[in-house]
Amino acid sequence: MKNLISITDFSAEELYELMRTAIDISENPGRYSDRCRGKKLATLFFEPSTRTRLSFEAAMLELGGSVIGFSEANSSSASKGESVADTAKVVSCYADIIAMRHPKEGAPLVAAQNAQIPVINAGDGGHNHPTQTLADLLTIYREKGRLDHLTVGFCGDLKYGRTVHSLILALSRYAGIKVILISPDELKLPEYVKKDVLEKNGMEYSETASLEEAMPSLDILYMTRVQRERFDSLEEYERLKDSYILTAEKLTAAKDDMCILHPLPRVNEISVAVDKDPRACYFKQALNGKLMRMALILKLLESSSMAEAFDDGGVPLTEKKCANPRCITSTEQELEHRFTLSEDGTCRCVYCEWEA
Ligand code: CP
Repeated sequence: MKNLISITDFSAEELYELMRTAIDISENPGRYSDRCRGKKLATLFFEPSTRTRLSFEAAMLELGGSVIGFSEANSSSASKGESVADTAKVVSCYADIIAMRHPKEGAPLVAAQNAQIPVINAGDGGHNHPTQTLADLLTIYREKGRLDHLTVGFCGDLKYGRTVHSLILALSRYAGIKVILISPDELKLPEYVKKDVLEKNGMEYSETASLEEAMPSLDILYMTRVQRERFDSLEEYERLKDSYILTAEKLTAAKDDMCILHPLPRVNEISVAVDKDPRACYFKQALNGKLMRMALILKLLESSSMAEAFDDGGVPLTEKKCANPRCITSTEQELEHRFTLSEDGTCRCVYCEWEA
């Protein structure tokens, strides 16, 4: 059974196949309107969402299927203390596929370990957001005609920006990608993404605090929101929230065919005046998200009949515990702490990738 927990669960060929299906859906929607008749998607959202939840729901409805679920933890039995593992086991009795968003990093992986049906990670804390990456990849492909040989600037909250982590991971598969990381010191990309993704794959990258300096060289500018909900200190959030504001004036230094992406929601990091610029692609990106989620649901439901043992690639290690307060192991007391070991001796939690 196939799940989508990390974008690396799909090969580059499988991602290309999903993009081709998504484009075919947009051109021939009638061919797909009955493909999921009798199937149910469960949307288990423990954290707020507009795009991801509603595009998943629209995707399943447009495929002829049905949707059940909840949109906040308080309306589920998680508020009474039910574990993610039990929730996944129970929902497996009612639905054919799960899309889960959770504030704790690794929660969808725990669901996949316990569910009898495919599980999709719809965003876990500040860790990963692979279905946003599907939307991002299709948008880049449609706008630029390729996924390789691009200079991509990521701007804003690169520390907690789960969409950034997943997209960098996806882009590491393609040749000639140069990455420019634009952030204040406090919101720099986590070391594990730099080391395990950028450096391990020999990707060219640089870091700067200046959007203006990076702008002229970019083919893609990926703006992100500074996320209030990830900060322990409101004061720190207030200090950093307006670090970058993209305006029409700043865009005069950009290439004519640069593509501006943003996973949305935006607060004020992109001025509304920029929406009129033909380089602004973030609303197309939201539409592409629905198309890719349709393709993904089809793919996972097709493969769910093929029994396959779940392997998270980790092992328990005596005396080792994950210390990340945002990891799902910090709240689910009975969960086994499991780790992957790399050749250089680094040991990482399988759920949140923190070094142990
Ligand atoms: N891009 C994204 O994940 O948006 P939502 O939080 O509205 O789902």
